[in-house]
Amino acid sequence: MNAPDTLVRSLDARYYTDPAIYQKEQQGLFAKTWQFAGHESQVERTGDYFSFEIAGQSLFCIRGRDGVLRTFYNVCQHRAHELVSGSGNCKVIVCPYHAWTYELTGGLRAGPNLKAVAGFSRQDICLTEVKTEVFWGFIFVNLDPQAEPMDSWFPGVREELGAFVPHIEQLKPLEWVQVSEKCNWKVSVENYSECYHCALNHPTFATGVVKPETYDIRPQGHCLRHTTECQNLDRMSYPIDLEANAHAGDYSSWFLWPAFSFQVYPGNVLNTYHWRSTGVETCDVWRGWYTIDGVDSEVIHRLAVQDRATTVEEDILLVESVQRGLHSRGYRPGPLVVDPKCGVNSEHSIMALQQWMREGADA
Ligand code: FES
Ligand SMILES: [Fe+2]
Repeated sequence: MNAPDTLVRSLDARYYTDPAIYQKEQQGLFAKTWQFAGHESQVERTGDYFSFEIAGQSLFCIRGRDGVLRTFYNVCQHRAHELVSGSGNCKVIVCPYHAWTYELTGGLRAGPNLKAVAGFSRQDICLTEVKTEVFWGFIFVNLDPQAEPMDSWFPGVREELGAFVPHIEQLKPLEWVQVSEKCNWKVSVENYSECYHCALNHPTFATGVVKPETYDIRPQGHCLRHTTECQNLDRMSYPIDLEANAHAGDYSSWFLWPAFSFQVYPGNVLNTYHWRSTGVETCDVWRGWYTIDGVDSEVIHRLAVQDRATTVEEDILLVESVQRGLHSRGYRPGPLVVDPKCGVNSEHSIMALQQWMREGADA
């Protein structure tokens, strides 16, 4: 990594507190990047659907008769009533207002008395589709019709993740743990993306499985890839068969800009983070835990509880203090600690992240 010749200062406080910047991010950044929608197991059968919100827009994913998963804006093309809410299964999509019906592919099928309308052409009316990708069972959408595919945004990640979690296609969510934080989403994402704070704030970090001096985070396209060597694998709280596959004893994570991360613990244990902005100074962080076919697992439950009680809890205190500090009249953004050799005590990952943040807010 090339180190800058001059000091790189952290972002101005207004990026984390100004409602106008937040609005710009919602309409620009979040509408032009790949956003996590849900997991394929939520829409396994023909006609299964679920609705969700991205960048203030209501959307829904639905499985077609052809097996294809599509995402549409959740709005009827007649007079704009919302089409679905929550999740469910349907044969055709029926608008609750005047009963116009749509095929699962989005095309208008019928509507009461439409034949009476001179010049009406059913073929011209279709729900507005949104770019959708399924990434190892995880559904991502991008509101930008011109968006580059995820493999361009996040080069190599699909292959690496497949190698780290050989059974990834059989995984289903076991639980999603919601954590509310009183901070701007960027404060939380930055905190996730550096380990300069770890030695002091995560007591289990220095003595646990991760070998702190080898921890590093490097940009890989618009992914921030965390790597580390492991130690003390015999002291893990769950059994690991190190012979099972090439990455059975490894830890790694892939943060996909701007608001999702795949994380793999030794034993090929996949877990995820996704961030959802709930306001200028609040966000929700969701921790996801998965097992084969989503079957109950005492080991995974215990991991989820332990994670919530330690790392997550420790990080909440940090990010909420930072958010309060960003309102201080005495704050002058300090230089990032960018070590040309990178490593655990360097904030080169924050330098990359804040560059993307600037572009996202100033675009
Ligand atoms: S708004 Fe949907 S049928 Fe009228
Ligand atoms: Fe942390």
